[in-house]
Amino acid sequence: MVNMAAAGEKGGSWPRWRSLGVSVILLAALCRGGSVERKIYISLNSTAPCVRLLNATHQIGCQSSRNGDTGVIHVVEREEDLTWVLETGQTPPYMVLLEGNLFTKDTLLKFKESLRISGIAVTYSKPPPPEGFSLDLPCPNDGFGVYGDDHGAQYSHCNGTLWNPLGSGMSYEDFQFPVFLLQDENETEVIKQCYREHNIPVNDTAPKYPLCAMQLISPMHAVTSTVTCMRRNSIQMSFSINPEAVCDYLAGFNVWSTVKPVNNSGVLAPEDQVVVSASRLDGRSFFWNLAPAAESTVSSLVTQLAAAEAIHKMADAQSLPRNIMFVFFQGEVFDYIGSSRMVYDMEKGKFPIRLNNIHSFVELSQVALRSNSSLWMHTDPVSRSNDSVNTEVERMIEVLKSSSKGTNVTLQEIDQSQALPPASFQRFLRARNIPGVVLTDHRAAYQNKYYNSMYDTAASINAHYPSGLSKEEALNYVTEAAQSLSEAATLLAKTLYQLAGGNDTAEVRADVESVTRMLYGFLVMSNNSWFQSIIRSDWKGLLEDKPPQYYVTAAMVNKVTPNPPTSFLISVLANLTGQVVNYTKEECQSPDKGADPQREFYEYLWVQGPLDANSTTRTPFCVRSTHRSHLAQSPAFELNEWDSTEYSTWTESRWKEIRARIFLVSSHELEVITLVVGIVVLLVSLGATYFINSKADILFTSAQDSGSVAY
Ligand SMILES: *[C@@H]1O[C@H](CO)[C@@H](O)[C@H](O)[C@H]1NC(C)=O
Ligand SMILES: *[C@@H]1O[C@H](CO)[C@@H](O)[C@H](O)[C@H]1NC(C)=O
Ligand SMILES: *[C@@H]1O[C@H](CO)[C@@H](O)[C@H](O)[C@H]1NC(C)=O
Ligand SMILES: *[C@@H]1O[C@H](CO)[C@@H](O)[C@H](O)[C@H]1NC(C)=O
Ligand SMILES: *[C@@H]1O[C@H](CO)[C@@H](O)[C@H](O)[C@H]1NC(C)=O
Ligand SMILES: *[C@@H]1O[C@H](CO)[C@@H](O)[C@H](O)[C@H]1NC(C)=O
Ligand SMILES: *[C@@H]1O[C@H](CO)[C@@H](O)[C@H](O)[C@H]1NC(C)=O
Ligand SMILES: *[C@@H]1O[C@H](CO)[C@@H](O)[C@H](O)[C@H]1NC(C)=O
Ligand SMILES: *[C@@H]1O[C@H](CO)[C@@H](O)[C@H](O)[C@H]1NC(C)=O
Ligand SMILES: *[C@@H]1O[C@H](CO)[C@@H](O)[C@H](O)[C@H]1NC(C)=O
Repeated sequence: MVNMAAAGEKGGSWPRWRSLGVSVILLAALCRGGSVERKIYISLNSTAPCVRLLNATHQIGCQSSRNGDTGVIHVVEREEDLTWVLETGQTPPYMVLLEGNLFTKDTLLKFKESLRISGIAVTYSKPPPPEGFSLDLPCPNDGFGVYGDDHGAQYSHCNGTLWNPLGSGMSYEDFQFPVFLLQDENETEVIKQCYREHNIPVNDTAPKYPLCAMQLISPMHAVTSTVTCMRRNSIQMSFSINPEAVCDYLAGFNVWSTVKPVNNSGVLAPEDQVVVSASRLDGRSFFWNLAPAAESTVSSLVTQLAAAEAIHKMADAQSLPRNIMFVFFQGEVFDYIGSSRMVYDMEKGKFPIRLNNIHSFVELSQVALRSNSSLWMHTDPVSRSNDSVNTEVERMIEVLKSSSKGTNVTLQEIDQSQALPPASFQRFLRARNIPGVVLTDHRAAYQNKYYNSMYDTAASINAHYPSGLSKEEALNYVTEAAQSLSEAATLLAKTLYQLAGGNDTAEVRADVESVTRMLYGFLVMSNNSWFQSIIRSDWKGLLEDKPPQYYVTAAMVNKVTPNPPTSFLISVLANLTGQVVNYTKEECQSPDKGADPQREFYEYLWVQGPLDANSTTRTPFCVRSTHRSHLAQSPAFELNEWDSTEYSTWTESRWKEIRARIFLVSSHELEVITLVVGIVVLLVSLGATYFINSKADILFTSAQDSGSVAY
């Protein structure tokens, strides 16, 4: 307003401007959405949306219409309540507030068919459904593993063994309405309160207006398939001045490290042999960026880290005949993004290690839920039909068995006619017959009742913390899970040590305290004193007072950044396997300029350091280790083969905004009256403005003389 008045003064016709200014103020007051909105709307602040994902041929997930979908709230707590929203209720469409234990395939399919549902807000079921809950597929990663026409076709499509029989596959369905998860019980209570006060049907007749309504806003830009959205992206990129992509491919970083340093700019000599130890680094659920992944990912990730620490502590680790590579694969849930890229780069010579350097392959899959402390050794029946491979696999099994002595893990062999479970190793087998074993806590179907769901949390793998512990106490509280995983880590470390040519495994032992702290950091709270002291300085903002989420992020058009769990993993790996070096911050952050003649063999992290005694300052320092990040982007996008059936093609749609809110709606009559009154007010004010304008000369003459004083 001030600017406008000043401009008016300069133009010399300020009275006219002033009256215009007055009406602009009036209009602004009328339209000031904000203040009016705040009185009527209550925004929901802790929700997780279901978003749209696309692959070569399909779209899956959820979306709202462009301006969001609105409906009258109806709380569905029991099966019977469904009748109201699906049939009898008189004020459709409904926004269903769905109790977590009813969030099933049956219910979702009913909602999908009904035109009376405008969206769903789901709550957590407490406790988690005891019978299990998984919206993932019964045959995960089907079609992208090793089994197919060229390799054991009789095992394809989980023929013979269904790995995730509880899986309903709903995570891979397409929904034309928004679905949100309510993550805060107090907010859920606010909604239920509003519902109880306004919406409860009395004697099965609709209650009177105003009613409590909810609006879920999650419109998605991308449609149909990755082929369509990537084509649209590239048209945007080439013709638009202001390019705006509609979808991004899912991507992140694999993390790997070797016991003996490897020249990252070179290539390993063909006779150098490497034992590979692998696990995965990602998970998912039905909802965006929600993937606690305790059993499906964290159990093996932590076990592998502890094994890496144990081996690095061995005095002769650097002089073992074979090297050992630890690798954590990213994006495996989405058709093996990370492992397929690593195999691709190894074949193309864009990785310091080649496929023919790989001596053997040990993979940890889900390992925390061992009944009778059993770990099962899965092998591939097809590659074992080759005698030389079979001999190697049998030797690995012997080594594993001998390593289990002295730990409380019982190793079990599986009938040789059973195929491998979904595993990154399958992508390596696709390229080459490498001898390998996949270790899991299940013989056939998963022990994990909550595979790729929001209930796969610390509690589901027996990491229970007594209430009343301080953060510091909880960090060091040895849970049942920590005990059991450190046994598995010892077994893994002894196995790798022997496979690498080491003899005396008596000293190889994983540290239960490390496992304890890792479980806390990776499962319960990343913002703990240990993570704070070992995290790279510029990543400290990623630490949070809640569990990390293992959802693989979307790349912002060729700009991939490590997601929080990857950053934590790198920091932990560097701490457990690296050395502190005496470098300044500058030398540490740009080692190319530094003096280290070995710099091609290492990565350097400038870490925050522990708190100084009695103060809030930290003493940062430089840590050198052999960890590396490796871009985990599906080769399909490198090759621009958006319809690939060989490589993962998953993309995530972009969106402008995602939010949710509740408010009271009046009846349609009332809305019409409000509109009419609004129009009348507008016409009157326009009339007034016109009148003031036309009579401005008369109305404002006296002010003209004392112009500047008036302001
Ligand atoms: C894409 O996903 C859908 C839904 O899961 C699946 O039916 C289809 O086979 C997938 N397409 C490809 C090429 O993998
Ligand atoms: C919910 O409200 C209760 C009581 O007001 C409070 O103690 C609790 O911390 C709140 N929970 C959350 C998650 O905000
Ligand atoms: C969400 O946050 C806003 C602003 O802080 C607050 O007014 C609103 O009440 C919150 N919503 C709920 C459901 O608590
Ligand atoms: C509901 O119906 C019962 C029986 O028909 C009647 O006694 C009661 O008054 C009704 N309640 C309301 C609020 O209309
Ligand atoms: C690492 O490999 C590169 C490329 O082969 C080579 O130029 C460099 O000298 C090697 N560095 C060391 C320290 O051996
Ligand atoms: C068995 O596998 C090895 C290594 O992959 C290969 O060199 C050999 O030719 C295979 N033998 C047969 C009979 O296929
Ligand atoms: C992390 O924890 C520290 C105390 O240890 C606290 O001061 C800080 O606010 C926390 N950060 C976040 C993001 O919660
Ligand atoms: C790892 O962390 C511990 C505890 O914070 C610290 O004492 C140790 O110096 C760190 N080691 C390295 C190599 O960073
Ligand atoms: C660390 O480096 C500085 C400067 O290069 C040197 O003065 C100091 O003595 C070194 N400290 C150790 C422990 O090597
Ligand atoms: C830390 O504070 C305590 C009590 O305030 C004091 O006794 C101790 O000497 C201090 N330590 C250091 C290193 O300043």
